[in-house]
Amino acid sequence: MITIKSDREIELMREAGKMVSKTHQYLKDYIKPGITTKELDRLAENYIRSLGGIPTCKGYEGFPSAICASVNDTVVHGIPSNYKLKEGDIITIDMVIGYKGYQGDAAWTYAVGKIDDDKKYLMEHTEKALYEGVKEIKPGIHIGDISFAIESYAKKHHLGVVEELCGHGIGREMHEDPEVPNYGVAGEGPRLKEGMVICVEPMLNFGTSSIYILEDNWTVKTQDGKPSAHYEHTVLVTKDGYSILTPRFDEESKL
Ligand code: MF3
Ligand code: CO
Repeated sequence: MITIKSDREIELMREAGKMVSKTHQYLKDYIKPGITTKELDRLAENYIRSLGGIPTCKGYEGFPSAICASVNDTVVHGIPSNYKLKEGDIITIDMVIGYKGYQGDAAWTYAVGKIDDDKKYLMEHTEKALYEGVKEIKPGIHIGDISFAIESYAKKHHLGVVEELCGHGIGREMHEDPEVPNYGVAGEGPRLKEGMVICVEPMLNFGTSSIYILEDNWTVKTQDGKPSAHYEHTVLVTKDGYSILTPRFDEESKL
C-alpha cells in the first residue's frame, strides 16, 4: 500500500529531510584525505542528535552505524571502519534521519581531493540521472516513467545500472511501498498521487552492472572493481509536480 501523507506528516518529513541536508552539508567539510570513515560516522551521529534527530540506520536490521560510507568500488551499505580516505577516492555518504516518527533519506557521492576523469564522469552523470528521474514526478505518472528516464540516461552514457537495489516509498518507515527501480518501462508500475513521498536513488557503475555482497552481509561491491556512484533524494509528489525534501544548498544551479 502506498500511503498518502497529510499536511502535518509532510511538515514533519520536511523537517526530517532538512536535517539530512544539514548533516550532509556539515560532513562535506570533513571529507578529506586522512580521516577515517568511522570518524565521519561519529561526527554524523553527534550532529544528527544535536539537531534532535535519530540516526535510523543505526541498529536497522543490525546495521552498526549512523551512516553508510561506501568508498570507490563499494556501491552501497559500506560500514564505517578504520579505512583512511585518500586523495583520489570517491565516497558515498547515505543516511536516514528520523524526526517525530518520520524519515528523511538522502545519499551523495563526494570526491576526496583531486579525482581522475573517469570518476568525475561517473559522478556527474549519476547525479544527472537522479534529476532525470526526479523531473518526471507529478501526479498521474507511473513509477516506470521514473525508472525508464534513469535507465535511458545511464545507458546513453554507458554506465552500468545496478538492478538488485532500488528506490522506495518513505514515511514512518524508511522503506515503504512502492519500489522505485532504476530500470524499467515507461507507463508501467503504480501511479503517483499528490501526497506520496518516494526516494529516487540511482546507483550507477563505471563498468559492469554486476555486484556482489561481502561476508559482512552488508557491503555491496562492483564485480569488476570499478567505481560506483549513488545519489538519492526524498521527493514529495505535489499538486502539479514535486518538491525535494532533502534539498542541497547548491541545488538551484542543478535544476
Ligand atoms: N538509504 C539507504 C536505503 O535507501 C539506507 C539503508 S542503510 C541501512 O536503503 F543500513 F539502514 F540499511
Ligand atoms: Co533510500
